[in-house]
Amino acid sequence: MNITYYGHNSFLVEFGGKKLLFDPFISGNGMASNIDVNSIEADYILLSHGHQDHILDAESIAKRCDATIISNFEIVSWYEPKGVKGHPMNHGGKYTFDFGTVKYVNAIHSSVLPDGTYGGNPGGFVIWNDENCFYMACDTALTYDMKLIPLMCPKLDFAVLPLGDNFTMGIEEAVMASSFIECKNIIGCHYDTFPIIEMDQNKAKTAFESKGIHIHLPKIGETINM
Ligand code: NI
Ligand code: MN
Repeated sequence: MNITYYGHNSFLVEFGGKKLLFDPFISGNGMASNIDVNSIEADYILLSHGHQDHILDAESIAKRCDATIISNFEIVSWYEPKGVKGHPMNHGGKYTFDFGTVKYVNAIHSSVLPDGTYGGNPGGFVIWNDENCFYMACDTALTYDMKLIPLMCPKLDFAVLPLGDNFTMGIEEAVMASSFIECKNIIGCHYDTFPIIEMDQNKAKTAFESKGIHIHLPKIGETINM
């Protein structure tokens, strides 16, 4: 499975023969100036919550690629009048798409759209098919609800966790989250984009590796195979 990092919480995951794009915030991210947003292809765009640093490029990419937005009911409803098709979900629900099953899980955060529209409850995604399963935590605090993931879903091959602190959990809580979700293969994100979420990468590596957890901190534009 190929995973390309576009900075912040933006990832393209090639899964089940489809291109799944998560939380595209590229044109507004000075750290991602090496990425040409117009060259990104997506079949589905998965949005975790309504904040600008997660949805900025979703409309333009969805229209250019005729992609379907998967998000909570409120966010999908906000995109419908803009001519963007979507599939609404809510917490605790799962649905099987043509690439695999998506479960929309809890995230402890907030969610409002850029024009002030209520953005529903923020979430994360667990996605699986017969071969693989992964978790995109997206913006969240550490929560005991993460312990439900191994009880409800197939064994995780990897998980993407925020590390930058301040707006989300930080390194220490992300290490605990890895234990809650029973996953020893972690990709870190949501750090260094803004000065208040700057992170010491060596500190992160040491914190995870001392617990026997493999941590990947891909460069922006890098594709890794998991
Ligand atoms: Ni946010
Ligand atoms: Mn964010």
